[in-house]
Amino acid sequence: MQMTCLRRAFSDVAIAACTVGFILISLQSSHAAELHGVVSSSEEGMMEGVLVTARREGSTISHTVSTRADGTFSFSGDILSAGKHVLSVRAIGYEIDGAVPSVTISNEAARSFLKLRKVADIVPQVTNAEWIASMPGGINDKKQLLGCTNCHTLERVAETKYNATEFLDVMGRMAQYSNNSFPLHPQIRVAETNAGARFGAETLKFATFLSTLNLSSGKRSYDFKLLPRIKGQGTKFLITEFDLPKETMEAHDVVVDRDGMVFFSDFGANQIGQLDPKTGKVTEHPYPVLRAGYPMGGLDLEQDESGNFWLAMMYQGGILRFDRKTNEMRTYPVPKELLNEATQQALIAPHHQEVDGKVWVTNVGLNKIHRVDVKTGAYETIDPFKDMPKNERHSAYGMNADKDNNLWFNDFSAEGIVRIDAKTLEVTMFKTGTARSRPRRGHMDAEGRLAFAEFYGDRAGVLDTRTGKMTEYSVPTPHTAPYDAALDKYGYLWTAGMESDRVTRIDTATGETVEYQLPRQTNIRRIFVDDSSKPSTIWIGNNEGASIIRLQPQP
Ligand code: HEC
Repeated sequence: MQMTCLRRAFSDVAIAACTVGFILISLQSSHAAELHGVVSSSEEGMMEGVLVTARREGSTISHTVSTRADGTFSFSGDILSAGKHVLSVRAIGYEIDGAVPSVTISNEAARSFLKLRKVADIVPQVTNAEWIASMPGGINDKKQLLGCTNCHTLERVAETKYNATEFLDVMGRMAQYSNNSFPLHPQIRVAETNAGARFGAETLKFATFLSTLNLSSGKRSYDFKLLPRIKGQGTKFLITEFDLPKETMEAHDVVVDRDGMVFFSDFGANQIGQLDPKTGKVTEHPYPVLRAGYPMGGLDLEQDESGNFWLAMMYQGGILRFDRKTNEMRTYPVPKELLNEATQQALIAPHHQEVDGKVWVTNVGLNKIHRVDVKTGAYETIDPFKDMPKNERHSAYGMNADKDNNLWFNDFSAEGIVRIDAKTLEVTMFKTGTARSRPRRGHMDAEGRLAFAEFYGDRAGVLDTRTGKMTEYSVPTPHTAPYDAALDKYGYLWTAGMESDRVTRIDTATGETVEYQLPRQTNIRRIFVDDSSKPSTIWIGNNEGASIIRLQPQP
């Protein structure tokens, strides 16, 4: 550790014990319970863009900040409470040199000097986006890997020694898992399926490709292409991570209501979760089993105009209304004659059911859309693709309803945003400028601007549903595979996906982007923008890491 650097960062600190890897010094100071520090390595000196996480012993809440250009970091104000905090870092290629550091914070400011060293084995730190960038192969072969990462990271794939035939077996097993599975909680599909049905007609070609990416030849055949650490504006934030009480809780969609209370769908269990961000307390609101023997859990969680929640119940076959005031739940099961083994309600649009008493919902098993009558529970079936050429593939994903309760959904198999008129059921398609962009999910604002994420396009876009004008913006990190996008009221478009643990802010006036890195592997799905602060606060569920993340960017 270089004395000169430390002096520059902390000229007010008497450095007596600099020879140890890192030291912690408490100072008498006028500041309350603050922690200030610096991160360095012998390779780089002072390091920018290192994420530093502090967690008070025994707490379910942790806080993360980034080092700035001069290598300093600080938890100022009343972010940290008094007590012993354990520190950890995220900086690709590095780890803390020495034992796990901790620092005791009292009512005086504490200082921490973290020395990093190169890791011996980088594999556990590599993100999916970096695996995909590093792996050899054409872009279309690589895109298929995005079909593996919705249940686990690519490390699991790359560290095997399977040949193509063996991979075919593995893929056959993967195909049996329902898409809300992950290694801590596998669930089995009821509908019979196989590798070909799940991973496409060219499954053998894909299995052969997979066998070129792993250790089957005895060693890895490629070098890692790692993403540079984030610099500048993207280092200005505070992240708070709230742990959920069970490691199998899959926080898929996070929604913050008008009272600042956080609700989330559990992708793998029949319950809606509630987090009080003031205390970290988590309440589980269980709901009944509609289809015994079918995978549990819900996906899309949305609010209607009056603030009540609606959940798409996935394989449970139906939708659910959750009264925000009384906590009462009412389920609307899919009627028997519309059910099959693949029935799956993934996405729902209840936003303006006050207009005509109807809620839109997908039916993956039929590749159609239903409209549910809120009073009677009757299901109406609409096939938006019936007039489209038979050789084309289409499917409905992310859904939004405009103020007249017309439906706008993303065509996840192709490149369209599709409008269904609530009165005439007329279908209109708006195509993205990017071919096979596979728009996935998005949010519509009060003015009818629809933000959407292009899963295959590595872009996010905005469609002004009043004028039909569409604008698309590239995200800076290749293989981000945006899952969701949302506009804030300050003109920024936010997007992120399952691969890079990075959240991207796009300035819609200039296209300029800022990326924020999250403290650990996160598998980001839904993005929720809370505009009640300036800048807006971003909420994300850690779908495979049992936590809820709050990102508060700083100006
Ligand atoms: C629908 C969820 C899901 C998808 C999609 C998925 N997996 Fe898995 N995978 C799992 C689960 C659950 C486990 C742990 C249980 C097991 O090993 O069967 C697992 C484990 C693995 C393992 C480690 C166990 C072993 O047999 O070596 C490998 C390798 C693997 N998956 C490869 C793949 C590949 C390749 C893909 C994409 C083609 C893929 N997975 C897609 C759910 C999935």
